[in-house]
Order: sequence, then C-alpha cells, then structure tokens
Amino acid sequence: MNLAESKTEQSSRASLDNLLNLCAPSMAQINDIILTRMASDVPLIPELAGHLIAAGGKRMRPMLCVAGALATSKSPNVPHSVLQLAAAVEFIHSATLLHDDVIDKSDRRRGRDTANALWGNEASVLVGDFLFARAFELMVETNNLAVLGLLSSASARITEGEVKQMIMTGVPDSSLDDYLSVITNKTATLFAAAAESGARVAGADKALCTAMHDYGLHLGMAFQICDDALDYEADPAYLGKNGGDDFHEGKITLPVILAWAEADDAQRVFWQRTLGDNDIQDGDLDKARSLLGRHNAIGQALSYARAETECAIQALSVVPEGAVKTALRQAALFAGKRAY
Ligand code: IPE
Ligand code: IPE
Ligand code: MG
Ligand code: MG
Repeated sequence: MNLAESKTEQSSRASLDNLLNLCAPSMAQINDIILTRMASDVPLIPELAGHLIAAGGKRMRPMLCVAGALATSKSPNVPHSVLQLAAAVEFIHSATLLHDDVIDKSDRRRGRDTANALWGNEASVLVGDFLFARAFELMVETNNLAVLGLLSSASARITEGEVKQMIMTGVPDSSLDDYLSVITNKTATLFAAAAESGARVAGADKALCTAMHDYGLHLGMAFQICDDALDYEADPAYLGKNGGDDFHEGKITLPVILAWAEADDAQRVFWQRTLGDNDIQDGDLDKARSLLGRHNAIGQALSYARAETECAIQALSVVPEGAVKTALRQAALFAGKRAY
C-alpha cells in the first residue's frame, strides 16, 4: 500500500482511537479538574456523581472541545481555559444523563446500575443540578463571555429537546421534522458547542469556528440517530445500558417513524397500543423488532446517520490537513456506526 492509499484507509476508519491518543495528555488534566470540582462537603454529592463519572463513558464531548483547539491552532499546547471548558462540557453531559435516566426510568448506564436506581430520583435530580452549577462556575472562570453564551444556550436547548420529546412521547405518528428538532436540541447542540468553544478559545478565525460547530452538530445528529437504532438492536452488555428502554417509555424515535410511515392498518394498531397507549405485553418488544426488520427501519435510520456523518466530514474541508483532522473524520464515522 502506498502512502496516499494508507492515508485514505486511515481516514475511512470508524474509530475513536486516534482522537483518544491525541487528546490523552489533555484528558488526564481534564479528569483532575473533574475530580477536584466534584468535591463537596455534602458526601452524597461526590458519592453519587462519582458513581456515574468514575464509570467513564466515552468522553467524546470534552475530546471534541480539545480537538477543536488542536485542529485550528498552530500550537500543540492546549490552553488551560480549554481544559476547564472541556470539564464543564462533561459536567453538563453528566448532569443531563442523571436527569435523563430519571425521566426515562432507566436502570443501567455505563455498565452499572443508574444513580436513580441506587439513590432514588430526588437525589439524582439534585446532584444533576449541582453538576450543572459546577459547569457554570468553570465556564465563568475562563472569562470568555462568547463561550459562556455558547454553552449556556446549548444547556437551555438540551432541556427544550427533552421537553419536546416528552410531549411527543406516545404519539407514534409524530413527524420526522419534530424528531430531528428533538435530537438537534437534546444531543447535537452540545457536541457543536463543545467543538466550537475549543476552537474559539484557541483563537481560531470565524470560518474555522463555524466549521467546528457544523462538524459537531452533524456528528451529534449521527450519534443520536445511531443511539436510537442501538436501543432496538444492540447487545446490552456491550452498550452498558438496557435495550428496549425507548419502546417501554413510548419514545418516538427514527426507526419507529420510518416503520409507521410504511405500516398497514394492523401494524398501526400495534404501534398505537404499545407506544401510544403504553399497553405492553410479553413478546411485544420482539414483535416491534420484527416489524422494524420487515421495513428495514434500522437500516434506513442508519443511512440517515451516514448522511449526517458525511456532512460532518464535509464541514472539515476548511480545517488544515493533519493527524487531528484524520482523527476527527474517524470520530464522525464512529458516531454513525458505533456499537457502544
Ligand atoms: C449518551 O451519550 C446520551 C446520548 C446523547 C445518546 P454517550 O453515549 O456519549 O454517553 P457516555 O458518556 O459515553 O456514557
Ligand atoms: C439522550 O437521549 C439524552 C440526552 C441527550 C440527555 P437518550 O435518552 O436516548 O440517551 P440514553 O439512551 O438514555 O443514553
Ligand atoms: Mg435515556
Ligand atoms: Mg438512547
């Protein structure tokens, strides 16, 4: 294989490995900030937050914040304020997970019992609020009003997405546009703000900041579409969370929207009874999976994810070629066809 071929092969791999390697020194420092800022005189707070945070997770959002700086700056040094922002972004993400698992009544996350399953809903909601507040402290310390604005509006939009999703729950004829607006808000906006804020703090020009924003946004869309497909078909042991949660909660995600569009009357009666009326009996999840299979709804959903991945990669066109850009391409591909 010649050099050009090996470069092409590198760029077409779906993987987080190179991003992880490039961000590793920064991630060690970000973890220190996270551990220090998780502290509280009220022991339940670090105990509950630590249960979620020590379980790891992919840490994609803070890595995108660091990569936003590395990809757009000539200096290999990541400014301290980028590390603080990356920690803030992971705190925002952790807070939303604590709240989300209460709302979704989920009992597994990152291969562990969820905080709500162990400590109850009240404690999870309150510690989520604490982590949000810590995120804002960190953002204020960076003294950069522009990124404070970016991440504040992303936080508001996450909640808008979750509320809109709640309103759509149990409505199987929800529109594709409504679904896309939910996932843009609840998931993609934070990826976009993470990648853009890293670039901004590192001093990137407007075109590069926009490129990182668009990259994060499309990657985030692919990521959530894939998550919604995995909820029906992943191996829970590998995923670290239970499959079938969306079905049991009546959540209307892309596979269901696509299957509903092609459903006959009898199939619509099934979706209405299960997702609409929350009347779910033994065997219904398997039946839902087989209906999705009959319409290739998972395959169709994953082609939407692939289209978003392509847009993410396209957005990088103004970013200088190099190891970081290759790692970002691989991360975008990972977002659209991940298994965990
Ligand atoms: C879970 O996000 C919530 C979604 C947006 C689907 P991640 O899959 O990034 O969760 P962790 O941090 O890796 O556990
Ligand atoms: C993502 O949606 C939730 C947030 C962005 C907070 P999901 O509800 O599908 O995420 P998981 O599957 O619980 O991780
Ligand atoms: Mg959930
Ligand atoms: Mg999910």
